[in-house]
Amino acid sequence: MAPANMEQNVEEQLRAHRRKDLLRFITCGSVDDGKSTLIGRLLYDSKMVFEDQLSTLEQDSKTVGTQGGALDFALLMDGLAAEREQGITIDVAYRFFSTARRAFIVADTPGHEQYTRNMITGASTANLAVILVDARKGILTQTRRHAFLVSLMGIRKVVLAINKMDLVDYDQATFGRICAEFTAFGRQINLDAVTAIPLSALKGDNVTARTSTMDWYEGQTLIEHLENVETIDQSRSAPFRLCVQWVNRPDLNFRGFSGTIASGEIYSGDTVRVLPSGKEARVARVVTYDGDLAHAVAGQSVTLTLDHEIDIARGDVLASPLDPPAIADQFNTTLIWMSEEPLLPGRSYLVKIGTKAVTGTVTSIRHKINVNTLEQLAAKTLALNEIAVANIQLAQQITFDPYEKNHETGGFILIDRITNATVGAGLIRFALRRSKNIHWQAVEVDKSARANHKHQKACVLWFTGLSGAGKSTVANALEKKLFALGRHTYLLDGDNVRHGLNRDLGFTDADRVENIRRVAEVSKLMVDAGLIVLVSFISPFRAERELARNLLQPDEFFEVFVDTPLDEAERRDPKGLYKKARRGEIRNFTGIDSPYEAPHNPEFRIDTTHVSAEEAADLILRLLNERGMLGGQA
Ligand code: ADX
Repeated sequence: MAPANMEQNVEEQLRAHRRKDLLRFITCGSVDDGKSTLIGRLLYDSKMVFEDQLSTLEQDSKTVGTQGGALDFALLMDGLAAEREQGITIDVAYRFFSTARRAFIVADTPGHEQYTRNMITGASTANLAVILVDARKGILTQTRRHAFLVSLMGIRKVVLAINKMDLVDYDQATFGRICAEFTAFGRQINLDAVTAIPLSALKGDNVTARTSTMDWYEGQTLIEHLENVETIDQSRSAPFRLCVQWVNRPDLNFRGFSGTIASGEIYSGDTVRVLPSGKEARVARVVTYDGDLAHAVAGQSVTLTLDHEIDIARGDVLASPLDPPAIADQFNTTLIWMSEEPLLPGRSYLVKIGTKAVTGTVTSIRHKINVNTLEQLAAKTLALNEIAVANIQLAQQITFDPYEKNHETGGFILIDRITNATVGAGLIRFALRRSKNIHWQAVEVDKSARANHKHQKACVLWFTGLSGAGKSTVANALEKKLFALGRHTYLLDGDNVRHGLNRDLGFTDADRVENIRRVAEVSKLMVDAGLIVLVSFISPFRAERELARNLLQPDEFFEVFVDTPLDEAERRDPKGLYKKARRGEIRNFTGIDSPYEAPHNPEFRIDTTHVSAEEAADLILRLLNERGMLGGQA
């Protein structure tokens, strides 16, 4: 834990430095390109300020997450704020240093391949990127990936730091060759403002001091360049946006809306529009940690009070009414996948944009991008570090800007709903038109009318379990009993549905996700039709069974876990498939070389090693009756 006085100290020093012009930059490079040495030298030579305190702070998410002082720390930490709230730790070290001319915040991002996510976090708030290259190795795939990400993230100023020049005898031709290769690549990805500097972080050449080793180089040293490079903070000139982080209501007399100004500026007296409601009000006060202000700008954390009361909740956006953001629920985006687990279209993820979190799915991957050749490739899933253009669909409309226009309201992260890990980052390119053009058609004969007509309550009985567990046998026996009782039922069976609706799908994880997504949607329609629906699919993943559950009302979905152990299912092997799988004739077979995630809390659990299918069906019937699903007539 960082002691309180240390935080205050950092605060004071920050405030003193804030009067100086500030440059935020990131450093990217592979593990041994010499990044730490370079940053170390910059900090050391510039008589760095309280670097230690900052690193203590960022290691301690608790302190930052809970203290009121988080307001001002947002200046340093805003790239991390979203992740911190999710309780996710990522290793981006923000270091602060300053020279006589300028103050700097450098996001030091670990360079290992799997840390793309750290780079993204650092890049989202940077004005400039220093891409490190080892002069002996030249441009690597990693360099191209970093350059591509830097470009995607909207950083237009790039320093190509060609390091370890001492190890190539300060050879001008080597420098020239690497520059030419990078410049050609940069041009293809809209990175035009590339400044190449030959240096040796270890020896100190051209970092903060010019040495006699490279007389052929006439440009600036790295620090001179960083001090003089022109930075236009676009976030200030963009239209006003504030994503409401919390509604501050200490007593009846005060009601303020707190958050960091994502872009633009605000004066007390300005009119703001609240999205998504569209209501407007005037700003009465701009309250900050340091007292009231007449005017505040992007990057500052403020609490706004309004001249009259309107409904505003966390996740809403306060915006300039002259140039307001848009609202939609389907988007074309650029996605950067950051998880070892592949992206599966159709799976439901938590999508966090600004201070809002909604569920959503990737509906289609338009193409992925080979970062070396920039080729567009077809893809069904995305693996770690892959970049793609993909369409997403959210469960709810959100307020947004295209990323190009606003990084805060146009960038989002994807979170795995079960592990809570950040699995991807995305940039909104544009909203899909169908967002607005497809409406929900109201129909007058509704679900309950249809069910009442049949004298029943509609529901889904979702049978899950291994192949050969006995799902279909139990479901079949149960359907017969329900039918005999005069109930209107339908049995959706995996093998059968795979002959028609889902005949285009195989058994990869991605195909199974889509298989279940479609069946979940079909069962929802059948519930709407007033039927008792029996679904018998292996449905091996918890996430998709949850998705099915969430499509329905709480009393409409019953998960039935047909719990037959693998060795028993394999012993029975009714279709001879386990034998084939063991012989390697079938790939991705559930339980053999494809996972099965058993339910944690199913409504019903059937142990088929102890009860017969008939008994199991009777048991479920009885339990349904006890839950009032059969109207006491069973
Ligand atoms: S699910 O995993 O996508 O839910 P589903 O229930 O539709 O699977 O289909 C499973 C049926 O397909 C099994 O009962 C079995 O008859 C057949 N099958 C063929 N290949 C496989 C496989 N690789 N893994 C599991 N089942 C398979």
